Amino acid sequence: MSGNYYDAHSHTLGIVTSAAESIQKQFALSRSYNLLNVTFNSISDGMIVIDSDSNIKRINGRALDVLNLTLDDVMNLDIKSLITNIDFKALLKGDKKEIYNIESDFKIKNDKIKCIVNAVPMNVNNKNIGMVITFKETKHIHKLVSKLAGFKASYTFDDIITENKNMKNMILLAKKSAKSDCNVLIEGESGTGKELLAQSIHNYSDRRNKPFVAVNCASIPRELVESELFGYEKGAFTGAAKEGHAGKFELADGGTIFLDEIGELPLDMQSKLLRVLDNGKIIRVGGTFEKQLDVRVIGATNRILKKEVNRKNFRNDLYYRLSVMNIKTIPLRQRKEDIGLLVNYFTKNLSIKKGTEVKKINKDYVEKLKDNYWEGNVRELRNVVERDFYLSEKNILVSYEVENTCKKEEKTFENVVAIKTLEKEAIEKAIIQSNGNMVQAANLLQIGRSTLYRKVKKYNIAYKI
Ligand SMILES: Nc1ncnc2c1ncn2[C@@H]1O[C@H](COP(=O)(O)OP(=O)(O)OP(=O)(O)O)[C@@H](O)[C@H]1O
Ligand SMILES: [Mg+2]
Repeated sequence: MSGNYYDAHSHTLGIVTSAAESIQKQFALSRSYNLLNVTFNSISDGMIVIDSDSNIKRINGRALDVLNLTLDDVMNLDIKSLITNIDFKALLKGDKKEIYNIESDFKIKNDKIKCIVNAVPMNVNNKNIGMVITFKETKHIHKLVSKLAGFKASYTFDDIITENKNMKNMILLAKKSAKSDCNVLIEGESGTGKELLAQSIHNYSDRRNKPFVAVNCASIPRELVESELFGYEKGAFTGAAKEGHAGKFELADGGTIFLDEIGELPLDMQSKLLRVLDNGKIIRVGGTFEKQLDVRVIGATNRILKKEVNRKNFRNDLYYRLSVMNIKTIPLRQRKEDIGLLVNYFTKNLSIKKGTEVKKINKDYVEKLKDNYWEGNVRELRNVVERDFYLSEKNILVSYEVENTCKKEEKTFENVVAIKTLEKEAIEKAIIQSNGNMVQAANLLQIGRSTLYRKVKKYNIAYKI
């Protein structure tokens, strides 16, 4: 304010002072408003503010991104038209306090966007003035779950100990498969490193930073296989969690799913799996919406799957779809040069683990081990070495009744009578160990059930029904 000082009214200074004060306040207000705005838009969750009539009054950039909408699309829209499974009326009336982590679908045009939603009513002087809704896309939660739940592959090709030429070729093939992104089928006896290989393939592929989800198809009860693999919607069956549940395929999105013992998959599930492999889409149990996923499948089995196809236990089309890359692991008895190497490796690891001096290994010790049949392959060898490591008191590895725990080498099988005897013994043992459960016994013997019954009859073996 300017002018002649003598002509000014005495109140002028007061006017100037209060004008300055209000300018200052206005500045502060706009600065904090800007700060609020910037904060609102930098939050990594979607955020929507509604008024007490449930109309959208504010929405942040993240929410617009996730829902693929513009500000004009949503301003003043009733939130109830977007989300139907949350009772906003009850929340606004104060009948319900707040809700956390509800899985909801945002219905946008013809799309459904799955999100985990929190809603907290805003009250001023006991009067509801609206609500803050925050949400995250479910697929991000899945990524987080994978990270936290340890859906990670720890082994790499460097962990595969071998000097064998065929093994090295197998690793070469596995590396090529890893880069190809095709489905892989790994066949081989128990303990030959199928899981080790599957993890190594994942870690060698471009999916290495994404989840590796392992599922043992044999250990899931038959009636739960589908929901375990593909998830379920709320209320899909009695006992289902209220909010529904993501399946292993969804959790593996972007990464690899390892279907261990895939030969045990029931036939009806095999056809569902085939469909998923064909189009990459899953439908949750009790759901209607298809979801596009990007998952690479690695299957493993200790059966010879082609034989199971001939026996009609495994679908032919699924077999071919899966075994685009077919890798066969090699039994330990066919690569004896690896035994010494593995004994050294396991002993060293045990010494490090126990913090003791590395135990020495006699040549005799290794030679003796080479005579065994190694039905349980590397896993069995590791167990034997571990036991001997703890039982040897001196600083040298001493064998402890190895002969009693393992079958003799193949050469004893030359005699026809011996094979028969061994077969009969094996069947008897399997039936006793399975308590007469013939399905389990057949699994243990790695033969079909009908073959088992035929042999039981042939050898006149007694069994419970
Ligand atoms: N070549 C190898 N070098 C080092 N360790 C190995 C090797 N092969 C197997 N192992 C080890 O042997 C154990 C069994 O391997 P893995 O679980 O991968 O076998 P598998 O073929 O999946 O067996 P199963 O059919 O019984 O599930 C693991 O502890 C693994 O680390
Ligand atoms: Mg395994």
